[in-house]
Amino acid sequence: MRKVADGSQRAFGRLVFASLLVHKLGIRRRHGPFLRSLKDHAATAIDGTTAIYAHAWYPLCFTGTTDQSRPHCIDVCGASVVFWHNGDRWFAALDECPHRAARLSEGRIRENGDIECPYHGWSFEGKTGRCSRIPQAESEADRMRESSRACTTVLPAEERHGLLFAWAAPLFGSTEPPDAAALDAVACEEIFETTGVKHVDYSRDLPMDLPTVMENVLASASTI
Ligand code: FES
Repeated sequence: MRKVADGSQRAFGRLVFASLLVHKLGIRRRHGPFLRSLKDHAATAIDGTTAIYAHAWYPLCFTGTTDQSRPHCIDVCGASVVFWHNGDRWFAALDECPHRAARLSEGRIRENGDIECPYHGWSFEGKTGRCSRIPQAESEADRMRESSRACTTVLPAEERHGLLFAWAAPLFGSTEPPDAAALDAVACEEIFETTGVKHVDYSRDLPMDLPTVMENVLASASTI
């Protein structure tokens, strides 16, 4: 199994940059064709090609300019991802309630930092995805919450230099743990600490999917 960041920081940098460019893919379906085809592929095994996309960090937003009072939605590899701030840190999860598939991003952040579904009000913990509240069944809630089917799929999320990143493996059904070293590598700590270096936050939406950008737009000789 090959991780995108293991062999080449440059390649990983390209992937992150590509994701920045296409962070809204223009495909608002829950599981777009790109992710679906990769998940089918991953049903037997995640090979090196799939791992390039699954075992990688994707930037979700510039944290300094993102409203922390409400949830947000973004597409990652064709899947909708919700991310929110609980007053202390950022969390990310599949933007799909395990109850009846409503978009969690259209719900709200509860006072305790959990995210609440807009449809029937189920709530979920950001760290584990565990269902923390079922308003219609308070007496049975403990038993119902034990079911894994009542949990939402969370994505490990980390903030670096004003960018929020999510580890995509759970979107592909992979249990590969987040690669902290890869995130540190792409964060380019030494660049930010270099005297005289300035940076600007910039993103652009392109109406195409990630493989198209990877294969046709980001020529390594001219972007790295
Ligand atoms: S669809 Fe989310 S609580 Fe019912």
